[in-house]
Amino acid sequence: MKTILEVKNLCKSFGETQVLNNINLKVNEGEFVAIMGQSGSGKSTMLYNISGMDRPTFGNVFLSGEDISKVDEDQLSSIRLNRMGFIFQHSYLLKNLSIRDNIVLPGFKSGKYSREEINKNAEAIMKKIGIISVANHDIKKVSGGQLQRAAICRALINQPDILFGDELTGSLNSSATKEVMDNINNINREGTTVIIVTHDAKVAARASRVIFIVDGSINDELVLGKYNGNEDHSFRDRKLTQWLEKQGF
Ligand SMILES: Nc1ncnc2c1ncn2[C@@H]1O[C@H](COP(=O)(O)OP(=O)(O)OP(=O)(O)O)[C@@H](O)[C@H]1O
Ligand SMILES: [Mg+2]
Repeated sequence: MKTILEVKNLCKSFGETQVLNNINLKVNEGEFVAIMGQSGSGKSTMLYNISGMDRPTFGNVFLSGEDISKVDEDQLSSIRLNRMGFIFQHSYLLKNLSIRDNIVLPGFKSGKYSREEINKNAEAIMKKIGIISVANHDIKKVSGGQLQRAAICRALINQPDILFGDELTGSLNSSATKEVMDNINNINREGTTVIIVTHDAKVAARASRVIFIVDGSINDELVLGKYNGNEDHSFRDRKLTQWLEKQGF
């Protein structure tokens, strides 16, 4: 197994307040990691610091062996655009553009693929994720689940190595959560590494590994193994629930 992301002695402070204390983590290519913990424990801060959205105060973050905590701002934005995808609780698509235009935009910005390739790629992803029927809709005229699936398509347009999500199902009802997470599991099964923050045990039960953060440190981790849509969900759910109880969650 090849390591795609390695975090070494990561610390993050805001002024006098230390939020992350010596985080060490190795993520293999193709893994699906869920980060859990109480509100304010530092989950989002950790995600932002390991994905180059913010800079650690101390420590290193290696993406495929390259120390991204040391590269300059231009290189870092190029790494984020070309090799990473991001999905948040509120997807912030651009209001005056259609679903399709929102999805292709980061493709054109990247320059990694030709216009033709980007359009073809967008078409294929929208089909796979089930939003091709609303491709030309204004973003105000689709459901929350469709909007979040559009955000996934946008995050995938440059065929990233890693997908990061922060509470990506936080504003969805349970059926939309299932739709979105089925897609995330499919993308992961096809080889994309996934790292998400969630407070939802049902969402985390789909990860191959769950990490629990307490006061800015990794307290424990639970290995669940690869999720297979057909298997008995309740076994994973039970195992995770018991473990979370042990963590005091
Ligand atoms: N930009 C910032 N400046 C100052 N303090 C910050 C900043 N970002 C986060 N913090 C502080 O760091 C701590 C951890 O915040 P973080 O957002 O990482 O928590 P979280 O685990 O994601 O919580 P939640 O589950 O509520 O989203 C909090 O005490 C927060 O106030
Ligand atoms: Mg958060």
